[in-house]
Parts: sequence; structure tokens; C-alpha cells
Amino acid sequence: MKKNRQKHSQLTFFLLFSLLLPTMLLSHSIIPKPQHFQARQGTFTLTQQTNYTSNTSYANPAISYLKNHLKRNAGYTLTQNKKAEILFVYNPKKVKKSEGYHLNIQKKKILIEARDKAGFFYAVVSLMQMMDAEIWRENNKKSKQKKWHIPACDIQDYPRYQWRGLMLDSSRNFFSVSYVKKFVDRMAQHKLNRFHWHLTDDEGWRIEINHYPLLTKVGASRGPGTKLPFSTYPAMRGPKNKRQSGYYSQKEIREIVTYAKARSIEVLPEIDLPGHAKAAIVSYPKLLQDPNDKSSYRSVQKVHNNTINPAGESTYVFLDTVIKEVSTLFPFGYIHLGGDEVPKGAWQKSPAVTNLMKRKGFKTKKEIEGYFFSRLDRILSKHHKKMIVWQEVAKNRASVRRDTTYMAWKSPKAGYAMAQQRKSTILAPVHYLYFDQQYVRSKKEPGHTWSTPVSTQKTYSFKPKASRYIKGVEACLWSETLLNTHIADYLAWPRTFALSEVAWTEQKQRKWSDFQKRKKVGLKRLKMQGIHYRGR
Ligand code: ACM
Repeated sequence: MKKNRQKHSQLTFFLLFSLLLPTMLLSHSIIPKPQHFQARQGTFTLTQQTNYTSNTSYANPAISYLKNHLKRNAGYTLTQNKKAEILFVYNPKKVKKSEGYHLNIQKKKILIEARDKAGFFYAVVSLMQMMDAEIWRENNKKSKQKKWHIPACDIQDYPRYQWRGLMLDSSRNFFSVSYVKKFVDRMAQHKLNRFHWHLTDDEGWRIEINHYPLLTKVGASRGPGTKLPFSTYPAMRGPKNKRQSGYYSQKEIREIVTYAKARSIEVLPEIDLPGHAKAAIVSYPKLLQDPNDKSSYRSVQKVHNNTINPAGESTYVFLDTVIKEVSTLFPFGYIHLGGDEVPKGAWQKSPAVTNLMKRKGFKTKKEIEGYFFSRLDRILSKHHKKMIVWQEVAKNRASVRRDTTYMAWKSPKAGYAMAQQRKSTILAPVHYLYFDQQYVRSKKEPGHTWSTPVSTQKTYSFKPKASRYIKGVEACLWSETLLNTHIADYLAWPRTFALSEVAWTEQKQRKWSDFQKRKKVGLKRLKMQGIHYRGR
């Protein structure tokens, strides 16, 4: 009998221990990991009787976000009441860093303090990540959860980098407005704040420009009966022998910008120039080509003659108008103008370019590229915008404004070298942050193979060096192989978890083993949202 009891208590201990162990090890499942987290005794329980109060309009987008999720998944409307349990308080004395927040959860009260919209938004996102994953559910399931338990804790949090970016290539394969919104929402959920939107390339011009309607009438279709190439892969929504079209109207662009803004995300449009411009060239050959140019060349992606003429005044008239319209659509202070991979052989047999070189005393192609970007920077300045370009432009000796920002994609080293020259730099190194690449080398895996594979652990292992000239980090989801949204999601997740933590969390707080545990819960949240992902 005594032996039995002993056995029984051993079993109870074992059961209790194995039940508690995962929660003991995992104090929270917030991604990206906050800078300071302290667990406290007890639990706050959110019910249909819970109210909020706020003393600042900065908290409004965060409150709307929380309200929408509760409405959808708990079936009730969180309302404002003086005697509330959730308090949104503007407190720039307590929260010193922009985008930072203080989240204090007690048994009977939740205090949220911040100094700006982003801070309040991120506090709410952290709060929701501490609730059951059901809170993120997207479909309207019948059973509504009535109570939401949130462990008491104190969080002081802020981002390591001001630039936490993710790029989506809508040119090589076109994504619907609703997919782009989902993409942006997932970014916000992980505290990423720069949506870099690659809107033009050889395979398609995807942004409506009122003054130049052919850009989308001609330049937004590829396949049979068009002048545009497929990349090495077929297009989304069909085989190579089918015509593919798609672009965003100005109304749709405004809608996406507003949607992003409500989630503390700025949208950075990219118009890729002077290479990667086949779609623009076939739409307006008279404006963008030297008619006597006999050059014949291919880009690294094997696209024939895809580079616009830097020596014709009509090029700059065209770009001035395009940039003017782009500037009014996107309120963000920067426009990305490409500058990558100008093909060997471009302009070699162009009399107009030869003439320009003579006039200006240029000896090399790089100097012509420099001239091109100097002129573009002047156009941007006229429209009150600053320039972002790929790293190639840093070598062009372009005379551009000091606050031009360079994206280093070939290696971290290239980025550090630019930062050392006091150039404002964003790190997007291919070996860590190109999410179009396969996770592991295998015929069964989707994704590109032109670089090395990028596993989630590889992304997580990126340790950017500290420098005041490094604005932040960004990952790129190029879309040649993104033949459907299933593949797009698979390639983005869970690598984007790792990106968010590289971008947000101080190096000393980051640990792969700890990240892996939170990643499991993160994937559960994505599942609720119907997002496809890779398990490991
Ligand atoms: C790039 O990957 N061409 C920026």
C-alpha cells in the first residue's frame, strides 16, 4: 500500500513536471524577442467585460488592430470606459526610444506606454502573441473563445534597427492586392516596418502611370503575343504558353499604402533603372532607346537589350514624370531606383552615349552610370524625395546627395565597406537574407539555386556589425520561382521570423535554441492565419 502511494506520488510529480516543463522553459513566445522581459506572478484574464481607456490618438491604430481581432475571434467589441483594465498611456518620459514600448501585465490591469504610433502598435502585437494562438485566426470559425489568459509580466522593448525591411518582387510574378495586404499584415505582426515593393523589371511594369498608359497596357503583359520575356521560369497562374498580365491601379496602390500605414509600415517603391527595364523599353522605345544603338547584349538573367538610354533627354523627361506620379502615390521619403546589374555590352555601340562620353570626358561605363544617377538624384530632390539604390551605384562616383542610401546585397563585407565610407547602408546579403533561394539544396525544395541555400538557421546566424551608418537589414523575396502564393509563403516562413529577430533584437539577447522554441508557437499562429510554411 505504502509502495503504491509512493509510486502514485512519483507519477504525479512526473506528470506535473512534464506538463510544466515546456512553459517553464518558455517564458513567452514573442517574435521578435523583446529586449527586456520579466515574468511576474499570476495571470490577466481578458473577457467580454474587459474595457480600455486611452489618453492619446497615437494608440488608435493599435486599438483598432486589437479590436478587430477580438471582434473576429471572440465575438465582442472592446469598448472604451473610464474604469478600464487596459490602459493606453502616452509616456515619452518612460519610453525613451522611438518605436519602443512598455507593457506591464498584472492580474487586474494591463498598462501600455509608448511615445509614438509604432510603439503602441508593437505593444499590442506582443500582447496578442502572449494570448492563445486562436486570437490570430483569420477564418470565421463558429466556436468563439470566451476568455484569454495572459501571463503577468513586464516588458521594456525597442528595436535595434530603424530599418527592418522585407522586399516582395511583384514584377517577375504578379501578386493580387489581397495577397500583398496579407504579406504586409504578416510583416507588421513581426515588427517589420519597411515594405520594399519591387514594381518594375524586365518581366513586367506593375504600377499604373497616368501620363504613360502604355507602361501597363504593353508593359504589364508577357507571354504569347507580347514583347516581354518570361524569366527562366513560367509565370504564376499558368504555363509559359499562356499570356500573363497584372498591374496595380493608382487606387489600389493608395489602398495598400494606407493599409500599411495603419500597421506602422512605410512602403518603399522600386523602379529598377537603367537595367532591368525591358518592360518600360518595349512600352516606349522611342523615348527610352537610342535609335542608332547597334549594341546587342544580354543581362545576367539572359534578357536581351534591357537597358535604357542615359544619353537621351527624352529619358529624363520620361523619368521626371514617372517619379512625379510615384512621389504622390507613396508618402514615404525615399524611392528606390535600382542600379543593379547593368549588363556588360550595354551602350557600347550607341552613338548618343559615345557623344555624351566625349562631351563629359568620361572614360568608363561606370562614369555613365554615375552621370545617370546624378541626374536622377536631382529629379528626386525636385520631388522632395531621397534615393535608395543597390550597392553597384556606390562605385559609380555619382554626384548624389549625402543621405542617399545603398543596399548591400552581394555580401555583408560590401555593406561594411560602404558604412566605413560613411555611406548610409542597408544590409541585405544574399547568403543570409535572399528568401528566394532554397532552404536546403534539394530537387524537392522550391526556390532558386543560383546562390547558396539559406536555411532559417543561416538567416538567424547573421550578426550585423555595429555601425552608425548601418540603418538596418532587409530580406528579399524575388519572385521568378514564386509560381503561386503557397510557394511564396513557404519561402518566407519561418525565415521571416529569423529576419525580424536579426532586425529587432540586440545581439546579446539572441540565441538559436531559444528562438527555435518560440518559432514553434509562431508557426501555430501562422497556421491560424492559413499561411503555408516550412516546418524547420
Ligand atoms: C539584385 O539581387 N540584383 C539586387
